[in-house]
Amino acid sequence: MKIFLDTADVAEIREYAASGLVDGVTTNPSLAAKTGRDYVESLREICSIVPGAVSAEVLAMDYDGMIQQAAIFTKIAKNIAVKVPLTWPGLKACKTLSDQGTMVNVTLCFSPVQAMMAAKAGASFISPFIGRVDDMGEDGIGLIHDIRTLYDNYNFKTEILAASVRHVQHVRESALAGADVATIPASVFKALLNHPLTDKGLAAFEADAKKAGVVIKG
Ligand code: G3P
Repeated sequence: MKIFLDTADVAEIREYAASGLVDGVTTNPSLAAKTGRDYVESLREICSIVPGAVSAEVLAMDYDGMIQQAAIFTKIAKNIAVKVPLTWPGLKACKTLSDQGTMVNVTLCFSPVQAMMAAKAGASFISPFIGRVDDMGEDGIGLIHDIRTLYDNYNFKTEILAASVRHVQHVRESALAGADVATIPASVFKALLNHPLTDKGLAAFEADAKKAGVVIKG
């Protein structure tokens, strides 16, 4: 499964991209607002750090506005994926852009049927918001399972990008449910390596080496 960082914070992206484990980035207007920076400038910087897909979300609600904003985004770099909402204008824009060879990420997906419509409109990525589904008392991971089944039944190539990921368990379960990508906040990315037995084992190695005076000589 690919791992994308769900942030518009350039410093955060730079820090974690150095691991080679960041396959892409997703941003949205709320994440851009948090940075206090010019959105297009941030995107330009992010695209120069991460070679994989970088999602840039339109603010327009109408088709023409979406296409105009997409044209601004696609000039930034080749790895931009234009993010559009799962609305009629959004899917119309998705069709136009994907026909032109632009990657499109359709966002704010909450049902398998919505995901089917986005795939039929040519989306490269569909973003089901699993945390927000859980918040409603429903089953976010179940949504990933259902979309996986639906896409496999009809051989849709759209990648399932699990979004609104809140914790490590969401990452594990998204992977097991067949998501192609999980986009995750930096805090969750960092926590992916945490395990108490790793910490315990490391402390024991360190203590044993110290006690016996084990050294590594070149
Ligand atoms: O990936 C979408 C994300 O940015 C929204 O997350 O936690 O606000 O539902 P959240």
